[in-house]
Amino acid sequence: MQNFARKLIAWQQTHGRHTLPWQNTRDPYAIWVSEIMLQQTQVSAVIPYYQRFMARFPDIANLAAADQDAVLQHWSGLGYYSRARNLHRAAQLVVELHRGQFPQSVDAVQALPGIGRSTAAAIAVFAFGQQQAILDGNVKRVLTRCFGIEGWPDRPTVQKRLWALAESLLPGCAIEAYTQGLMDLGATLCTRTRPNCGDCPLREDCVALRDDRTDALPTPKPRKALPEKQTVMLLLLNGNQILLEKRPPSGIWGGLWSLPETAAIEDAQLTARQAFGLETQALPPLPMFTHTFTHFRLHITPQPLRVIKQLPEARQAGLVWLDREDALGSALPTAVRNLLQRLRP
Ligand code: ADE
Repeated sequence: MQNFARKLIAWQQTHGRHTLPWQNTRDPYAIWVSEIMLQQTQVSAVIPYYQRFMARFPDIANLAAADQDAVLQHWSGLGYYSRARNLHRAAQLVVELHRGQFPQSVDAVQALPGIGRSTAAAIAVFAFGQQQAILDGNVKRVLTRCFGIEGWPDRPTVQKRLWALAESLLPGCAIEAYTQGLMDLGATLCTRTRPNCGDCPLREDCVALRDDRTDALPTPKPRKALPEKQTVMLLLLNGNQILLEKRPPSGIWGGLWSLPETAAIEDAQLTARQAFGLETQALPPLPMFTHTFTHFRLHITPQPLRVIKQLPEARQAGLVWLDREDALGSALPTAVRNLLQRLRP
């Protein structure tokens, strides 16, 4: 076996993580859910969500049969909600196409929504012990540093080179410890900022450490400034209750319960009347806050409106009146949850 794998496996066995809630199982469903939650989210943030999710949806049949609303509710706060919608849809596909049995071939796994090449490989390794290479963000960091690979790792030429390298490094045995070791090293020692090279099992072989380039690798993405958008969120208050509106199924916050929006403060009462049949009295707007998405920044001005009269033709579909505590129990986007939490009961 090559030095790289040998050192990594030995390190994983003594210094890696062995008791995470999704370890010590071969259940592909449990492993799949964890890998989806762990995409772009840290282990410590995932653990409580993972435990609640698995308690509520213990197997594929359960998840496939659930309402999307219940699934999103258990995801609320983790962000990147397309992950939850894809997971739910994929569970239904496993029931339809594979008689409820999670497929073992990486091609069949990768054909499911929300599962890319690296996630399919991680499931194949941990659930089925297959010889497959992973290449997630942590692994890209370890490989670009250790082998001194320049260029943004998601650029197609660089990515191709990294996949070939990842495959060439696979050990002939202990694939699970090797794969977990790559993840653990990237998460605990080979961190993005201030890596702990002194404790790294690969320090004698690492090109970035030798050349003092750990700060420069992996090469960052060429950056454009994020576009800025504005919105006004309507806090429609009726006694203790607040109006939530279900977002359309696709797009930002798709399927989540959110606050009605309008483009400008001046339109708030008109929107309340025309869209919801509500006569309102405007209270002073609350301070603007900013929510940053991957692709843009959203400046949100909350506008409270007290309901004076509900017109009989008021729309009902996709709307719900809830008191603050019940609203906080719904599948809300993080920005809306934070806003409702700041409101005084
Ligand atoms: N990140 C992605 N997959 C992981 C796993 N199985 N354990 C820890 N961190 C991870």
